[in-house]
Formats: sequence, C-alpha cells, structure tokens
Amino acid sequence: MPDTITITDDRTGKTVTVPITGGVFPSTALRELDPSLFMYDPAYLSTAACRSEITYLDGDAGVLRYRGYPIEQLAEQSTYLEVAYLILNGELPDKSQLEQWTYDVTHHTFIHENMRKRFVDGFHYDAHPMGMFVSSLAALGTFYPESKEINDPQIRDKQILRLLAKSPTLAAMCYRFSVGLPFFLPDNSLSYPANFLTMMWKIGEYELHPALERAMDILFILHADHEQNCGTTAMRVVGSSHADPYSAAAGAAAALYGPLHGGANEQVVRMLTEIGSIDNVSAFVEDVKAGKGRLMGFGHRVYKNYDPRAKIIKRTADEVFEVTGKNPLLDIALKLEETALSDPYFIDRKLYPNVDFYSGLIYQAMGFPVDMFTVLFAIPRMSGWLAHWVELLEDKDQKISRPRQWYTGVDEREYVPIGDR
Ligand code: CMC
Repeated sequence: MPDTITITDDRTGKTVTVPITGGVFPSTALRELDPSLFMYDPAYLSTAACRSEITYLDGDAGVLRYRGYPIEQLAEQSTYLEVAYLILNGELPDKSQLEQWTYDVTHHTFIHENMRKRFVDGFHYDAHPMGMFVSSLAALGTFYPESKEINDPQIRDKQILRLLAKSPTLAAMCYRFSVGLPFFLPDNSLSYPANFLTMMWKIGEYELHPALERAMDILFILHADHEQNCGTTAMRVVGSSHADPYSAAAGAAAALYGPLHGGANEQVVRMLTEIGSIDNVSAFVEDVKAGKGRLMGFGHRVYKNYDPRAKIIKRTADEVFEVTGKNPLLDIALKLEETALSDPYFIDRKLYPNVDFYSGLIYQAMGFPVDMFTVLFAIPRMSGWLAHWVELLEDKDQKISRPRQWYTGVDEREYVPIGDR
C-alpha cells in the first residue's frame, strides 16, 4: 500500500497526490487543487498545526512521554527542575548542568518590590488568585523591556529562567494577598517545591513534611507539558505575533483558567462537594447522562483511555493522605469513578478520569483553597509553554497564526439611515 493520499476535486476532475508521513499529510495539497479552497475544521480536531519534538501522547494507549521518557519513570525518579531542563533542552542534564540550572532558577525567584506594592496590592481584597496570576504574568514583562528581543537567544534564555523561577513567587503572593497574609520572600536554600510551599504557608515556625514536598514535585512533573492543548496553543498563537514571552504566557494562563481546561480541577472538588455523599452518586451520574452538566475530571480530547497522569496522581494521593489524613471527598470520587467506568454512556464515549479528577483532592488535603488549584497547574506548565514558544520561534515553517474562516453572514446590502429602519 503506498504511503500517499490522492484528493480529487470533483468539480474540475483535478487530482493531487501527496505523501503521508507519520499519519500526517500537508494541507498544501488542497491549495494545489484550488488556492481558494479551505478545510472546515472547528477546534482543530483534524489539524496538526506544527511539528513538535517535545511531548509524545498516544491517547488510545494512554501513553505520555516527555522527550521520549515515559511519564511514569520521570514521576518516579526525577525532579520537576530536571524535567523542566529536559523539556526545554531536549536532553536530561548531567550533574554539573543540573547544578548550574538549579542555581540559576533558584537565584531568579525574587520579584521587583513594585510588583507587590503597586500592582498586586491594587486588586480587590477577594480577587481570584488565578485572575491575579494571569495579569501578574503580563505585568511582570513590563519590568523587562528587553524581553521584546525574542530573536536574541541569550535574552530569551534569561526570560525563561525568570518566568520559571518567579511563577511560584507570584502564585504564593497572589494567594497570600487573597487571604490578607504578609508576603513571604523566597528562600534560596530550599528546593523548588519546598520554596513554593514555604512561601505559601509559612507563618512563624513552619516545618514541611518531606512527603508533601515530594508530592508537590510529582504533581509539577505531571503537569509540565501536554503537547498542543488549549493553553499551549494560546502560547503559540500569541507567540507567533512575536509578542514577548510574558504576554504570551499570560495568554496561555488565561486559556488554562477555563473550566474545560485547567479550571476543571477546581470544578471537580466543587462537584464532589455538591454530591455530598456516595448515596447521591448514581443520581448525579444519571443527571449527567440526561445532559444536566458534565462529569468534571472525566473525558479528554486526546485520551480515549485512562489518563496515565491520573493513575500516578491516585497513587500520590494515598501518600499525601497518610500525612494529612484522608480527604473525605475521596470515597465519593472512588464511587463516582467506579459508577462511570461501568456505565455504557461513559464506556461508549471512552470517557475516563483525566489528570484533574484526583489532583484537586490532593491539593485540598494539602490545605490549598479551591481557587488556587489552577494556579498550581500553571506553575509547572510554564516549562511546557516556554519550550513550545522556543520551538515555534525556531521553526522555519511557522508564520503568524492566522486561520481562515467560512463566511456565513449576509451578502452585501445597502446601509439604511436610522430614521428609515
Ligand atoms: N461528562 C459527560 N459527558 C461527556 C464528558 C463529561 N466529562 N466529556 C465528554 N462527554 C460526552 C459529550 O457530551 C459527547 O457526547 P455526545 O457524543 O453524545 O454528544 C462526547 O462525550 C464527546 O465529547 P466532546 O465534547 O465532543 O469531547 P471533546 O474532546 O470536545 O471534549 C473535554 C474534551 C475535556 C473538554 C470534555 O471531555 C469535558 O468537558 N470534560 C470535563 C472537563 C474536564 O475534565 N476538563 C479537563 C481536561 S484534562 C486537563 C486539561 O486539559 O486541562
């Protein structure tokens, strides 16, 4: 069987044959047939908008790899900072590279005092931390006007360090502002997750349990990248106009904020709280099947199997609950999963738990308020966004992102003066 596809325009009888490589064929085939012809592909269900070497995902098999390394091995053996290096540079660091990288990230964690005093202090007292985080990213860029030099690799690398290092600082600052606590400065003697958790929780004496530090690191690893999801696509679209990386990251974070994307973890806990008891699970599932809302934390555009991240998170949850005590919502979640996975509605549609189904339960057990959950997703996703941003800028095939439309509005008509309407 030839690895080609032949497309015939029945209006003209013209035929074009193009190669299929890795399951993909070039859309230029259509332009060859007729330059005014476009494919209608809402939500890009059938469109590969870029080549990428960062993350491999096989949704049917439930496989996820960063730069070829299975997510299970990275979650088991690596740290988030090492994974961030891998995602951004393509290879695992050697010992001295990792030391230098850790030193560099650790020594860019402080933010300009005016970020807090003049910017964050301007928010309303009950502002949602994710709304604050999204805008803080864009605001941070105004402190680094050189970040607009996106074609200078040294300047680019500096902004990558800053965004990775300062994201936890901004996140903790947004949280402490939202609950009226004084800002706690980064401590450069701590690991990346320990520094974040300390900035979040320290009031007087604070001792971080190593199991919680490790759990945070694992959650960061699991959320570091997920190829062309909505947020990463936003990063690429904004980045394609050559905007600075802070503005592009703010766009990506805004996309992540939505309840169908990174906001789902927040919705899962709200949903489980609303269900209230395992006795109500069946009725809730029936309501979902009847079209009254969605089962949050279930389903995925690409995974048509158990999300491998959800499996790891479920295991990590047990380790966290040993320290914090079990989250009372866990039993409802387990019952909900069991009910859904044995119901033909979910089986037929291949709807399985995704990364957000159990992550919220861990976050809640660790003490995070529900409206911090998406911020916790955004902190590690920064490495993925930045890796895609660099890949985009170095890809000679890429141009400013500018899809076409199928115009379905009215045809030309005469303007009617207001008195005659
Ligand atoms: N509960 C109930 N039914 C669902 C769900 C769900 N969670 N997800 C999909 N379906 C149904 C949907 O109604 C449709 O049924 P039908 O064919 O009868 O119309 C079918 O399954 C296919 O759904 P779809 O909307 O075409 O699928 P999609 O690929 O556009 O959506 C999704 C993917 C993640 C937005 C969706 O599954 C969903 O809304 N899930 C709940 C929100 C969620 O957990 N989001 C987190 C995603 S993973 C992390 C991340 O991306 O940030």
